[in-house]
Amino acid sequence: MTDQAASAATRTPYEPHFTTIAEGSLGLDDHEAIAAMLSRAFPDYAHWYQGPRSWAGMQPELRVVARSGEIVVAHAGVRRQFVTVGETDLLVGCVGMVAVSPILQGTGLGGQLLRLVDAALDHLAVPFGALEAAERVQPFYLKHGWELLEGVTGHYNDFTADGASTLVSSDSGWLIRPGNVVRPDWPAGDLHWNGQLV
Ligand SMILES: CC(C)(COP(=O)(O)OP(=O)(O)OC[C@H]1O[C@@H](n2cnc3c(N)ncnc32)[C@H](O)[C@@H]1OP(=O)(O)O)[C@@H](O)C(=O)NCCC(=O)NCCS
Repeated sequence: MTDQAASAATRTPYEPHFTTIAEGSLGLDDHEAIAAMLSRAFPDYAHWYQGPRSWAGMQPELRVVARSGEIVVAHAGVRRQFVTVGETDLLVGCVGMVAVSPILQGTGLGGQLLRLVDAALDHLAVPFGALEAAERVQPFYLKHGWELLEGVTGHYNDFTADGASTLVSSDSGWLIRPGNVVRPDWPAGDLHWNGQLV
């Protein structure tokens, strides 16, 4: 029996089970199941996550997904992107759509999710993970090894499902997760995504 089969045999049917999966390996059913959870976890953005559209801005390249049976109960997306910080071009793993199903929030799934996001960032060999988070949720990331970039303004193209993507700027809420590969110091200056975020 493989390790995966042995672990599946000892799990209770509805115990959340995490996998990390490449975007190209997802089927239509997977996209629909992810979108259904994201629309519940982000009710203000539910209009993005319709049917099989399981992303709002940049489509990720890797997903960390937890399922209970067939139901998706936790999710994060990661995509490698070059950003410009000040005068420096820098590879980052953009992390987004981090969410736990509302009925399971506060049970520790979010922490497990971020540990697997760390592993995904290591797998992608990026020097930094990067994301934007609202003030209310920043303590969650800080507790799990993310660092707040003080005094940094980030510029990115707004999410759009149906029209022109305008440039928006945000002068707070940018967090980074130093990776385990050899990396430079985070450069000084504004953060230019030159496109959308995951
Ligand atoms: C943010 C979110 C992913 C956290 O997942 P979770 O399963 O609820 O988190 P956990 O149960 O693993 O909590 C881990 C720790 O972070 C803390 N935490 C979780 N959410 C927090 C929040 N919004 N603010 C402050 N601390 C928070 C918990 O208190 C817990 O700390 P403890 O172990 O000392 O009790 C989840 O609440 C969620 O999906 N929220 C809605 C979507 C969202 O805002 N996503 C973030 C987008 S940037």
